[in-house]
Amino acid sequence: MGRELVDLFGRVHRDFRISVTDRCNFRCQYCMPEEGLDWLKREELLTFEEITRVTKILVENYGIHSVRLTGGEPTLRANLSDLISMLSELPIEIALTTNGITLEKNAHLLRSAGLSRINISIDSLKAEKFKEITHRDEMRKVIAGIEASLEAGLSPVKINVVAMRGVNDDEILDFAKFGRDRSVIVRFIEFMPLDADENWSTSSVLSQEEIFSTINSVYPLEAVERSNAPASRFRYIDGQGEIGIVASVTQKFCGSCDRIRITADGQFRNCLFSNEEFDLKEALRSGSSASEICELLELAVLAKRDGHGIGNVDFIRPARSMSQIGG
Ligand code: 5AD
Ligand code: SF4
Repeated sequence: MGRELVDLFGRVHRDFRISVTDRCNFRCQYCMPEEGLDWLKREELLTFEEITRVTKILVENYGIHSVRLTGGEPTLRANLSDLISMLSELPIEIALTTNGITLEKNAHLLRSAGLSRINISIDSLKAEKFKEITHRDEMRKVIAGIEASLEAGLSPVKINVVAMRGVNDDEILDFAKFGRDRSVIVRFIEFMPLDADENWSTSSVLSQEEIFSTINSVYPLEAVERSNAPASRFRYIDGQGEIGIVASVTQKFCGSCDRIRITADGQFRNCLFSNEEFDLKEALRSGSSASEICELLELAVLAKRDGHGIGNVDFIRPARSMSQIGG
């Protein structure tokens, strides 16, 4: 080891996110176009062997110690637990971001394959509203999935809530209570301009400050020191757990971002908001050696910009929506 994936701004990259499919059985309004998307074909997806090879290269050369599997909806990838087993041979912690719909059935299987952490998306605790946001009438199944994850011993279990003004801004306290009652960490995420339907506007963003003061006025909070993770962390003063707020828009954390990602079709990205991709699949399939792959990875990280620039006049939305990039 000894080397690090460092960019021109001195940021060291250690958080590796792998999208395993662009498919999704939900169509969250902040993520997918209402009419859906064309899915990638099977042969366009990286195979489990290819994903494991890239991960091994990252672990052995750059000290990457955790990976997160994302989608689309990662549990739609056939035999996902086999990939988790393959990755768990490496000295890494494996996390999953999911819509939760399959967890009632699968949480134990994923856990025994080697999954340790889980983030489940749920943007409303009202069945009707949930249906409006996701276009699926499945809130209860997702809640059952959260319970199954706790029962399977996944730890921590976090829920992701995209906070949107006029959509779920009346549920902030309900979510806080939900988390406190069940020992689940709630992560509120500011709505980002990655929705395929382009309904995003600055005024639809519910800010960290608003979320914090709503909760703090009922359940007092104190700050927990922040790491490289994108969420600001706050703990309840009465000891009933903690929350996170990902203020990607109002307090951008790009300065300490340590994330890199690959899309399901093997494109390496140095930022969620990047308009440039590096063709890792081509490198893998044309017989590149590990050191050639390292060269490509280093080049890609060096090309990283200092920040996403949302709000700047020259900000260009990425051509792909969140479900195609991976959360
Ligand atoms: N803004 C903020 N977060 C988003 N996600 C998807 N689209 C957006 C967006 N436009 C996040 C949600 C979801 C995860 C899969 O991706 O947190 O839980
Ligand atoms: Fe699917 Fe997740 Fe996007 Fe919702 S946010 S449509 S569950 S990929």
